[in-house]
Amino acid sequence: MMAVDGGDQAGELRARLADELIARGYIRSTRVEAAFRAVPRHAFVPADTPLDVTYHVDRSVVTKRDENGVAVSSVSAAYIQVAMIEQAELRPGSRVLEIGSGGYNAALLAEVVGPGGRVVSVDIDPEVTDRAAGLLEAAGYGGRVTVITADAQGEVFGRESFDAIIVTAGAWDLAPAWLRGLAVGGRLVVPLRMNGVSRSIGFRWEMGRLVGTSAVVGGFVPMQGAGEHLDREFRLPDGRGGAVTLRFDDGAPDDPALLDGVLASERGEAWSGVTVGHGESFADLYLWFAGFLPGFCKLAADEGTELAQERKSWFPFGVVRGDSFAYLSVRPALEGRGVEFGARAYGAHGGEAATAMVEQIQAWDERGRTEPGFEYWPTGSALARFPDDVAVLHKTHGLVAITWPAC
Ligand SMILES: C[S@@+](CC[C@H](N)C(=O)[O-])C[C@H]1O[C@@H](n2cnc3c(N)ncnc32)[C@H](O)[C@@H]1O
Repeated sequence: MMAVDGGDQAGELRARLADELIARGYIRSTRVEAAFRAVPRHAFVPADTPLDVTYHVDRSVVTKRDENGVAVSSVSAAYIQVAMIEQAELRPGSRVLEIGSGGYNAALLAEVVGPGGRVVSVDIDPEVTDRAAGLLEAAGYGGRVTVITADAQGEVFGRESFDAIIVTAGAWDLAPAWLRGLAVGGRLVVPLRMNGVSRSIGFRWEMGRLVGTSAVVGGFVPMQGAGEHLDREFRLPDGRGGAVTLRFDDGAPDDPALLDGVLASERGEAWSGVTVGHGESFADLYLWFAGFLPGFCKLAADEGTELAQERKSWFPFGVVRGDSFAYLSVRPALEGRGVEFGARAYGAHGGEAATAMVEQIQAWDERGRTEPGFEYWPTGSALARFPDDVAVLHKTHGLVAITWPAC
């Protein structure tokens, strides 16, 4: 390990965080390590941000909110920034485009590609680009990063091509302009939303499609402009002033009015026999639902509702069947340690909804506990036929295929 930078508190925290990012496998190369140790992250967050938040492994720092208080720009969490730079496989001299500016990530990129490389950072919001350009200048990176204001969905880069494009806003689809902007053998790193579940996927071109070579769990502020994709939300009042909200990225029910009053019905449940140990990751179960469970949605419960009082016994993922819905639940495992997955459900057809969810939990357990692979097939490419065990998600400009290798 390198020595503590300067002995000041920020330098100490940065050095400690670098060690943690290496130990947890997010930093894998000496170039990214050196960049992380060199760039003062605290120079790019609002001045009143506590240093322990700035130098926390998985805390982002919001830099701008919209009129409703929703975060629209942030300095992303350190773990996802370094993981995405690793996914981009940059070298000294690489040309890299960052979509979504803030300054800090661009400074890391400038360190990684060195003086012979090129870093362009584009953001749709002039307030963000002004701030990023000013902070980069103040931190000594002004001449090493080109900052542009534009909607990155469009043709804003002319004929310039890049060895890597790193998208730092949550994308529902891949813009054709990004694919055109990639040099031969180039990498596209993008937090892609697949039916509401996000992964930062490192893609490379291979025979007319993009093949994912790595994936990291992480969420981002949403894409704005031409690439914006709005969820559809339905609030289900509980009759006591609270509500449960169902949010659909795709496949929202045709007649949500069928769900009126559903929370007043008696609740049922079904259990899968599938267990998970404490500390064992099951993030890919959500991705499995996103790919294979029609009617899949996310769930949020207002404080004071029955669900809010039972927060430790469920996860915010559900499924709708007509006038009923079910949501992912857990109970202590009967044998051994950990929890068993199941579904609790409301509505006249809650049993069907719960069974549909439980069947997919069991299918994930039988076939899917391996790491999924991702491909993106742009519209117009010679499409492969996908077997039934591949989840296919249709997008505007292509499709995403998610595969689970056999155990
Ligand atoms: C998480 S922030 C970027 C963080 C930054 N990379 C950093 O250094 O930490 C995401 C940014 O994406 C920008 N953005 C959203 N949609 C965009 C679009 N269509 N084109 C360009 N930028 C966009 C937002 O304005 C926001 O500033």
